[in-house]
Amino acid sequence: MPTWNPDLYLKFGNERAQPAIDLVSAIDIESPKKIIDLGCGSGNSTALLKNRWPNAEITGLDSSLEMIEKARESDSSIDWIVGHIEDLSPNDKYDLIFSNAALQWIENHDRLLPCLVDALTNNGVFAAQVPNNESSPYHQVILRVASNPKWSHKLAAAKNPLTYHSIDYYYELLETQCSSLRLWETEYCHVMDSAESILQWTSGTGLRPYLEALKTEEERNAFKAEALEGYRDAYPVQSNGKVLFPFRRQFILARN
Ligand SMILES: C[S@@+](CC[C@H](N)C(=O)[O-])C[C@H]1O[C@@H](n2cnc3c(N)ncnc32)[C@H](O)[C@@H]1O
Repeated sequence: MPTWNPDLYLKFGNERAQPAIDLVSAIDIESPKKIIDLGCGSGNSTALLKNRWPNAEITGLDSSLEMIEKARESDSSIDWIVGHIEDLSPNDKYDLIFSNAALQWIENHDRLLPCLVDALTNNGVFAAQVPNNESSPYHQVILRVASNPKWSHKLAAAKNPLTYHSIDYYYELLETQCSSLRLWETEYCHVMDSAESILQWTSGTGLRPYLEALKTEEERNAFKAEALEGYRDAYPVQSNGKVLFPFRRQFILARN
């Protein structure tokens, strides 16, 4: 499992927070007693849950010790657990199972998501957000650079690290299991300072498994330089010097 760097992840905190804010505000549930935030990271998404439902018993779960240590510093009233989402016990039931920007790191959504819905109390809610950037320029640039024979033999294990499917896949998967199911996509348009900012953003997420598969700092820097060149071509500079970085995300809101 690659190591997460909380500081790098938090660098674009506002941009990364907005989808979680949008998802929390779309949840129609009055007073859930038990909530779990799966892949809670350093606790930003968990803080939104706590803010909306201050009386709930809230657990934040993440596989990264570094992230959980950072989260523990933020709020001692939340139960912070180091663990894997896949290992969630089917016997523990929750009124709200929330996950922002984490399920894409796990394969086999066909098994995982129905299990998560099964872990809801009666009328409980499963709310999740995963990216949908298969066709976006930054993803295409990463794939193109990584497929260059210069890199590909070193990156075999790092290929396709993210799992996410189309909206209609999630509809087919969950529709019969849920009393209601809302699915939608939003393309956020982040205003970045430069193509370097996009490189920094992706170094903390999508590029990370590729960089970690490379053995030396020199190789990682060379790989990043090639990605940056691709980003410069793909994301034109606006007249004020900024660069627009469209980022598509999809949302699942399912009631048991
Ligand atoms: C992009 S961060 C999202 C953090 C937080 N939900 C937020 O909105 O700021 C993804 C998190 O998922 C965690 N993660 C990835 N795979 C996981 C797994 N199998 N089980 C638990 N956590 C996982 C990572 O450690 C990371 O902290």
